[in-house]
Amino acid sequence: MYQSRTDNEIIKDFVGCFKTQPTVLIKAPGRVNLIGEHTDYNGFPVLPVSIPFVITVAASPRPDKNIHINNSNTQYKSKSFELSQNIPHSPTGEWSNYVKAAASALASHPDFKLHGMNAFFNGDIPASAGLSSSSALVIASALSILATNSRKMDFLELAEMMAFGEHYVGTQGGGMDQAICLFGKEGYAVKINFFPLRCSYVKFPENHSIVVAHSLVRAAKTEDALFLYNLRPAECRLATALINAIYNPEPQLNRLGNLIDYDFFKSYNNHEQFIDNTFLQKSYFLSDIAQILGNSAESVVQKYLLTRDGVPMPVPKDGFKIPQRTLHVLTEADRVEKSCKVLEKNDSTAFGKLMNASHNSCDEDYSISTPELNELVKIMRASGAPGARLTGAGFGGCAIGLVRDNDVKKVIDSVRKLYYNIYIANKRPELLGTSDSHSKLVFSVKPARGALIKQL
Ligand code: GLA
Repeated sequence: MYQSRTDNEIIKDFVGCFKTQPTVLIKAPGRVNLIGEHTDYNGFPVLPVSIPFVITVAASPRPDKNIHINNSNTQYKSKSFELSQNIPHSPTGEWSNYVKAAASALASHPDFKLHGMNAFFNGDIPASAGLSSSSALVIASALSILATNSRKMDFLELAEMMAFGEHYVGTQGGGMDQAICLFGKEGYAVKINFFPLRCSYVKFPENHSIVVAHSLVRAAKTEDALFLYNLRPAECRLATALINAIYNPEPQLNRLGNLIDYDFFKSYNNHEQFIDNTFLQKSYFLSDIAQILGNSAESVVQKYLLTRDGVPMPVPKDGFKIPQRTLHVLTEADRVEKSCKVLEKNDSTAFGKLMNASHNSCDEDYSISTPELNELVKIMRASGAPGARLTGAGFGGCAIGLVRDNDVKKVIDSVRKLYYNIYIANKRPELLGTSDSHSKLVFSVKPARGALIKQL
């Protein structure tokens, strides 16, 4: 969804649509993740910021249990459904699924007896860009349902509930996007820890901005990128299962993030040594994993490799890259901790180096970059960004650069010229003109506030 409208225009649109006045206005921002990619579902921290692009909802209560939703972008069709714990899915990729995800999660709350709402949505977060427009839509929907029911919920509890609730759409993401949407703060990055969710604030470097540039490769997590994305949490679940089988720790690990609590892990000098001694193959086929776990291949699939609908995920032809994925997760977790330390000293040069190392690890070990994202970060670094990396799930979407305020124009001009006008025009001309966010391909932001609830 991508459409700039003022609050008054959105309120007018609501009145035109529902012939009544809205009682609340909700805003839920998108995000960029500065560092800590694919660490959240592993129980390691992340360091995102909210950005000043939002989904805005004007809403009013309904006496019945129906939810009526409309959108200022006519590409997103109006929809009505009944609030319940088991709301039937719309076809994959439809925007109403994100509203339904929030609605069915809230309807499952044992203390809530909820009624429906009328809601009018407007968004200016570029879609399929890795800027978390989907989680902003889920959070905006949840806050609208709560506010029109005069219900308040602790934001930590809400963020956790919506992280799991969003699995309704088929993705198996972690909890970063929902938490930053609620906890973002102007001028700050948010260090988010998981299991249980905790947030703390880290000052964003003075006199710096974040340049965000769309690679023009769509990163639609409900389209092709869905399988690619979900495969990464699956590989991490398999890594955890293999470590449990190899070391037989007491108690067993729930996720890779638990490793740091165990003596067998601490006895290694570094992560590489742990990986080399633990995973004796570079790539694991289903049969290898089944043998180590002492299970049948079928039961490995049932336990670790099912989609939301209980369908087995397609298995990668060249096997699961378990050591590489584990190495990324462990080194990325270290980089987040180091980033918080250097940011406390306002050391943007050191932070930039950590961002660069993170991108390389995302590319080489986690295999979530693309040639386009690699080109973008190269251009940003060469034109003056102390650090640049992909942001979000990967497989397309945006790259970000940490840039001194004085250099923002220079970096943006270089990206326009060298990336869109030369690289893309020569290598992937078919991508020019396909983006729904054309007027905002490259821009700069500073960390913005999180979600907002305004009674009207
Ligand atoms: C997506 C998911 C997040 C996180 C990132 C990668 O945005 O929704 O939970 O896993 O990818 O860091």
